[in-house]
Amino acid sequence: MNALRIRPVTHADLPAIRDIYNHYVRTSTVTYDEVESTSAGWADKAARITGAGIPFLIAEEGGVLLGYALGQPWSPKSAYRFTIENSIYLAPSAAGRGIGRALLAEFLDACRQAGLRQIIAVIADRGTDASLALHRRAGFVDAGRLTEVGEKFGEPQGVLLLQKTL
Ligand SMILES: CC(C)(COP(=O)(O)OP(=O)(O)OC[C@H]1O[C@@H](n2cnc3c(N)ncnc32)[C@H](O)[C@@H]1OP(=O)(O)O)[C@@H](O)C(=O)NCCC(=O)NCCS
Repeated sequence: MNALRIRPVTHADLPAIRDIYNHYVRTSTVTYDEVESTSAGWADKAARITGAGIPFLIAEEGGVLLGYALGQPWSPKSAYRFTIENSIYLAPSAAGRGIGRALLAEFLDACRQAGLRQIIAVIADRGTDASLALHRRAGFVDAGRLTEVGEKFGEPQGVLLLQKTL
């Protein structure tokens, strides 16, 4: 049996990351992106994240990329420099096996080591039971709800805000 390995992202991981994310862009409201992402877009994003010293990790098994976890600045305003928003996505076939829990735990450790202090999860308010359970179990607490701030597939969409102090 192949062991799960969690490590920092490399450029070679980006096409698989793009494909995982685009699945959810096309088929779900767990992300409010409506246009599929590109490898070039992911290259820019990875460079900005890692350049800012923010963790971007992937999980793989037997050389197959199963998912990723990343942070992005919460705001460009400098006073927010110790606060990030996090994002975690697994390939559909990898969900429900504890991989999200392991990946998020390593991501939180990496954030601590990077000197970050607060993490905010912005989670769609419907169809996100797994993400809500994952984040609450990792110690995120409910911090607010914004109703009808988005629209996808012709329906108004809201978000729940969860926060973890490191
Ligand atoms: C959200 C996601 C990362 C969770 O990772 P995962 O590996 O599936 O979750 P795990 O197996 O580690 O389970 C984590 C917790 O969530 C619970 N959980 C998992 N799937 C669930 C589901 N469908 N409904 C309710 N709870 C669920 C587990 O029971 C576990 O809780 P516990 O530790 O109290 O038992 C993953 O399912 C995923 O990528 N989903 C699609 C994309 C997505 O929603 N990303 C987040 C956007 S905000």
